[in-house]
Amino acid sequence: MCGIVGFTGNQPAAPILLDGLKKLEYRGYDSAGIAVLCDEKITVSKVTGRIANLCEKTEDGKNVPGFTGIGHTRWATHGAPTDNNAHPHLSNDGKFAVVHNGIIENYVLLREELIADGFVFESETDTEVVVHLIEKYYQGDFKKAVIKTTTRLHGSYALGVVCADEPNKVFVAREASPLILGVGVGENFFASDVTALVSHTRNVIYLEDGEFAEVTPEAITVFDCLGNTVDKKVSRINWDIQSAEKGGYEHFMLKEIMEQPRAVKATIAPRIQGSEIKLDDLEISDEYLKSINKIIITACGSACYAGCAGKYAIEKLCRIPVHTELASELRYSDPLIDEQTLLIVLSQSGETADTIAAIKECKSRGAKVLSLVNVVGSTIAKISDYTLYTWAGPEIAVATTKGYTTQVALLYVFALYVARHLNRIDEPTYANLLETLEDMPSKVQEALDSNPHIPNLAKHYTPDRSVFFIGRNTDYAASLEAALKLKEISYIHAESYAAGELKHGTIALIDEHQPVIALCYNKDIYEKTMSNVVEVKARGADVLAVTFKHNVKIASVADDVIYVPNVETVFSGIVEIIPLQLLAYHVARENGCDIDKPKNLAKSVTVE
Ligand code: AGP
Repeated sequence: MCGIVGFTGNQPAAPILLDGLKKLEYRGYDSAGIAVLCDEKITVSKVTGRIANLCEKTEDGKNVPGFTGIGHTRWATHGAPTDNNAHPHLSNDGKFAVVHNGIIENYVLLREELIADGFVFESETDTEVVVHLIEKYYQGDFKKAVIKTTTRLHGSYALGVVCADEPNKVFVAREASPLILGVGVGENFFASDVTALVSHTRNVIYLEDGEFAEVTPEAITVFDCLGNTVDKKVSRINWDIQSAEKGGYEHFMLKEIMEQPRAVKATIAPRIQGSEIKLDDLEISDEYLKSINKIIITACGSACYAGCAGKYAIEKLCRIPVHTELASELRYSDPLIDEQTLLIVLSQSGETADTIAAIKECKSRGAKVLSLVNVVGSTIAKISDYTLYTWAGPEIAVATTKGYTTQVALLYVFALYVARHLNRIDEPTYANLLETLEDMPSKVQEALDSNPHIPNLAKHYTPDRSVFFIGRNTDYAASLEAALKLKEISYIHAESYAAGELKHGTIALIDEHQPVIALCYNKDIYEKTMSNVVEVKARGADVLAVTFKHNVKIASVADDVIYVPNVETVFSGIVEIIPLQLLAYHVARENGCDIDKPKNLAKSVTVE
């Protein structure tokens, strides 16, 4: 996720662009840049690091003259944070500059085509193909060149484009990434969200997917892909800036929970091309995959629990033994590792100290390391042999949600890829599971929409005592993350327990009105888990069951039920956690907790 801004009017553009980028830093902050038009020339200033570096480089915009421009603050997805990879990107002839938020899924093919046409690329980004396509299609008509370019793009984009031939004009285009136009007096704006606009105007126009706009100081004209004008209403923004940063949600955590359909799609979709999975530029040979006789998944906290969910998928599909180990334990365990061990590392931040130490320990013993991280160019990405990125966008809330589900999603993609390359999966199963992955974003949205009663449930499940989460197999993996979510944001003690283990001691704790959240989604072992539900009910527990849709029978046993959309069990770890994230959120909200910044916790634990 990145942030884009643009301005055209009768005052210097650069200071306005910089101010807008500061308001969008929460959307991405590893590099930034602006492009300003002056005397039919585009001046581009780009830096690695925070907006402050850009302000310093441009003397707060004073050394970049001009009244029309665009700006970008980046969250790297393709290409590490460097000046060259920062936006805006300039065409070879210097006539166009582009800023982009989103992912161009077919950029590799477009890049090859443009290089063959003689275009020279300066960056590793997907975005740069856009500016060269515009140059390729430009024959004097800026609008036509932009529209024709977008017909070649697959994926998501919010684009801002300037052309040296048209000094007081900006073109924007939107497909699956937010883009909002700010309506001023003698000046107009655009941005990724209203936070960058409200200090200038509260009158906005929301672009929809497939729409374009020509923005000049005098007017904003919205049109469709055929060039036909579209009438749009002007809305009035009543949010303050802080709530606007949260997209109108009360907390970043809730915003990020709701972003999961997009984040999961951004992580899965670019890796499915036709009926094949393409793992970026991952150069793991089939020979090496065949040599692996053990996989260790290591991480900390929620990332480790994502590994637990992924373990079931990799073992089921690839038939390779998988051990999930807490990094803080693995690093001191004198681990049994050799060249045939693949270490899979999960980390949202890419900077977790225990995880870094575990990597170094395992590498010293001969393991190859594949890291799945959310921050491009992070320490863990740099010290790994292979890296795949989750494309969740920046995660601000300390308690991870989209970071977790995109890690699980990427593990599922990897498991299916390896199973295919090791010929361990038949064609019908592969096709069915590929379709399951393609449908996952809509299933996540359905899981978000399916349980409007969760806020009321949270009122009941705000006990002054511990909460037990029980489950088996994939349900047990989900219960580990569900228990942590509740603990870390509501400060209520919660314990995840393998349901089959209750009779070996813990059931002694179950008495009248003991809250038990039973994860009964896995159909393969459903009856077994239900027997545990009956056991705890018999001892007086209050049971909230989390189960698959249309399982009406369970309502006769459990006190409350949360239904989860049906997906293949082996890939159930994403949808199953969604309602439990929401439950933890609403319990914490009931308790008046500081949800985005829980006490004693940091977003990235960079110390032991
Ligand atoms: C998750 O809600 C916690 N904030 C914490 O467990 C986190 O998952 C853990 O510290 C690992 O962080 P990482 O993914 O950045 O390595």
